[in-house]
Amino acid sequence: MIGDNLFFEEIEKVSKIVKALIREKNVKVISHHDADGLSSAAILIKALTREGVNFKFRILKQLTENDIKELDIGESDFLILLDLGSGQINGLKDVLDKTQVLVLDHHDPVRKEHMNLLHINPLVLGEEEISASMICYLFAKMLNIRNTDLIDLAIVGAMGDIMDEKWELKGLGRKILEEAEMLGKISIERGIRLYGRNTRPIFKSLEYSSDAVIPGITGSESNAVQFLAELGIELKEGERWRMLKDLTLEEQKKLASAIIVERLKNGHEDAEDIFGEIYNLIGRPKDLQDAREFATLLNACGRTGNFGVAVRLCLNDLTALRDSWGILENYRKMISTGLNWLRDGNFEARNSITIVKGGKKIPDTIIGTLLSIALSSGIVDSTKIVIGFADDEDGNLKISARMSRNLNLNLRDIIVEAAHSVGGEAGGHKFAAGALIAAGKEDEFIKATENKLSNQVK
Ligand code: C5P
Repeated sequence: MIGDNLFFEEIEKVSKIVKALIREKNVKVISHHDADGLSSAAILIKALTREGVNFKFRILKQLTENDIKELDIGESDFLILLDLGSGQINGLKDVLDKTQVLVLDHHDPVRKEHMNLLHINPLVLGEEEISASMICYLFAKMLNIRNTDLIDLAIVGAMGDIMDEKWELKGLGRKILEEAEMLGKISIERGIRLYGRNTRPIFKSLEYSSDAVIPGITGSESNAVQFLAELGIELKEGERWRMLKDLTLEEQKKLASAIIVERLKNGHEDAEDIFGEIYNLIGRPKDLQDAREFATLLNACGRTGNFGVAVRLCLNDLTALRDSWGILENYRKMISTGLNWLRDGNFEARNSITIVKGGKKIPDTIIGTLLSIALSSGIVDSTKIVIGFADDEDGNLKISARMSRNLNLNLRDIIVEAAHSVGGEAGGHKFAAGALIAAGKEDEFIKATENKLSNQVK
């Protein structure tokens, strides 16, 4: 065991209860559609299969009150909620009155008890936040020690939810990483914080360098190409585009120095702060070895509704790889179309917030991802909260909100209060939150957010 505290004691206790209960019940697993939720689902699917339990699983965008009603849970069922549920405990009352519910989640929790509620959330138990996939891993390991082989998925989910700081896992997450290293499932490398090491041409990695921003080059393909040409780094090897991992050590050093020089020239405060950790998954196919890229692929699958492909990838069904590349390509196109639309100035910079009205132009499943990239790559002002709206398929308004970690606010509290004031549902984390409200309530919601912010600043 990693630690010895209330959190771990609770996981152990709950895993024993669950083990005793689930064989008698129809188990229904519900998880969230992002990389953390999908890796959580895969961990539980494998663990339940090993227990010989019959179960059904579903992936949802959110767990709304309507979804809960439609679940149709009876006394013979056992409901397991992954990467969602902690914020919806009130809405689960009717279900809890009938049967047991296990929640493995890390969203800001509603602190309510019920004799049928088995609630594992580090924030409820005085522990620091880790990803849902890590919680699921700890739970699965207590259920059966064989499940330690699922530890790499715990790391993938954590990458998906950006649980690391500047590409380094800290705290309890780091302990799980060290366990993965010890088990021979992960190796740790240091490198430049550029996405797409194994999957993108180098100039694309530079163009999309939102973590270690390179002034003038981030966001510009032609400047990225020119930058590499000036450094004498070949773009191609024969017919094949070269990727970051193909660079010789010499070239990598040259590239790193040049990036630092560019940042220094532009008066960047932490010009040399461009390195971080790369987590390699040992024993996975080449294309899925980088935990961050694996998470991107899962996000692409989840946010385009291809849940089966995502879970198959996690469970090492290699036939899913073939299906996944087209999905990723499509997803990248969606993101890049959305970013270009934002670059064209389709947002409104107000005093304390930036508003993006995506309407039908931006799919509700990617508005959050778009805002995260827009914020980190400087398309929108990173000193303000950014709030995006998109129409969902049921005629409601999906809201995503993001802010930089430098702001000393709690975005979840702000969004939850504003959403409740217009009769909507909301939840999330300190730096990333979301909501669902009725169409036409946009301006009322914005006003409520601004009021709350001005009260806080006073
Ligand atoms: O959808 P988006 O990526 O913007 O969501 C940000 C965070 O807010 C996620 O962790 C999501 O689970 C949470 N959220 C929520 N309730 C909603 C919408 C989002 O808890 N109605």
